[in-house]
Amino acid sequence: MSFPSDFVWGAATSSYQIEGAVHEGGRGDSIWDLFCRTPGAIYKGHNGFVACDHYHRYAEDADLLTGLGAQAYRFSIAWPRIQPTGVGPANQAGLDFYDRLVDALLARGIDPYVTLYHWDLPTALHYEGGWANPDIPQQFGEYTTHVAKKLGDRVKNWMTHNEPQCSIYLGCGAGVHAPGWKRPFEELRVMARNVLLSHGYSTLALKAEIPGCKVGMAPVGQTCIPASRSAEDIAAAKHQMLGIRPDSLWEMPLWLDPIVFGEYREDVLRDPVAVPHLSEADLKVIHQPMDFLGLNIYSAPIIKAGEGGKPATLDDSIDDPLTAFRWLVRPESLYWGPKISHERYGLPIYITENGLSNVDWVGLDGKVQDPQRIDFTRRYLTELGRAVDDGVPVEGYFHWSLLDNFEWAEGYKERFGLIHVDFTTGTRTPKQSYHWYREVIASNGESLRADPSTVV
Ligand code: NOJ
Repeated sequence: MSFPSDFVWGAATSSYQIEGAVHEGGRGDSIWDLFCRTPGAIYKGHNGFVACDHYHRYAEDADLLTGLGAQAYRFSIAWPRIQPTGVGPANQAGLDFYDRLVDALLARGIDPYVTLYHWDLPTALHYEGGWANPDIPQQFGEYTTHVAKKLGDRVKNWMTHNEPQCSIYLGCGAGVHAPGWKRPFEELRVMARNVLLSHGYSTLALKAEIPGCKVGMAPVGQTCIPASRSAEDIAAAKHQMLGIRPDSLWEMPLWLDPIVFGEYREDVLRDPVAVPHLSEADLKVIHQPMDFLGLNIYSAPIIKAGEGGKPATLDDSIDDPLTAFRWLVRPESLYWGPKISHERYGLPIYITENGLSNVDWVGLDGKVQDPQRIDFTRRYLTELGRAVDDGVPVEGYFHWSLLDNFEWAEGYKERFGLIHVDFTTGTRTPKQSYHWYREVIASNGESLRADPSTVV
């Protein structure tokens, strides 16, 4: 396991989960503010109104990135800070906040990786139909232009959407995320079409404003792990991972095939009517060159070839380790996810998110001991190293998350940070895993090899 010398090590966050200051600097209301005000929507009525107060403490957080030795930081822009109602001229104070943040990062030698949409839609656009509104793709392009004009001289790596599977399905289908809609799949596919178009307009805007910039997307890296190394099990896992099922938005080809290939390739269509309807004109907008693929990977099912080679999911064992969120610990997802995705799309890959929630607290000695996070990350990174050794062009890894933060409908219940946050006082305490990850970064992954317990 040997990471290339220019491998990028970093950590990730998103605007709504950490910024707070939701009514400052002219920021407009977002659908997550609205959802947080909805009784019963969020665990114990928590909200993101203050969160980690990163809006005021961004310099301290940049210092913490320095302490970690991070080479890069992935964060997102809140659309309602840039355009309070989602349309019209840019709000100077909103642009200025991200300007200060980018400068603070660069002054510390940390490369910014910016996500344009990590789910905080301006509420005004929601009332116009949100992602179902046919105007939203172009509006997203205009928002992108405002951001690119301000930050494009310093930010070179961009992601349009984060996990569109969640913003559309969890938000507008299952109703468990903002805006809490329960719309049928036909409507969700219309929204997916608009997201794809918005990616196209956004890419065009970025490329027009910032020569040489790199543009990607960060979908849920929906992955399947083959039960064995047999050709049959590997084929079954790939078939399961890539096949678009009729009533599902989770599979990556639903989002990536039209962008990368300009069409849905037959091999992933388990049912021809299950994908968004895209006209030739739509595909012209959507099919833009993509420079890298971001994968958010946390867990994965294990698939074997069942009867006639058909994919069959193995039952979980009672001994399978689980995170605090009760997500299965499946390190091999960081081998198979990048490998299969690269085989299909041929793009360089970043792991744009990977991590776990854990039951962390500040001990009597003032330290936060989180051995599970260390063990989890060591196992996952070892598998990622195996993918690199196999020739998969993985360019970087962003741990989710830098800070404990607002975990959407779960409020502050789930702690994903390398840094503990006391949400009453705002105090940050680097966890044991922060110090451990610093060694991984400093040694470019060699410290994973040195430790005998890295052998999985
Ligand atoms: C994916 C999302 O992008 C992020 O916002 C979330 O906190 C993590 N997964 C953990 O659930």
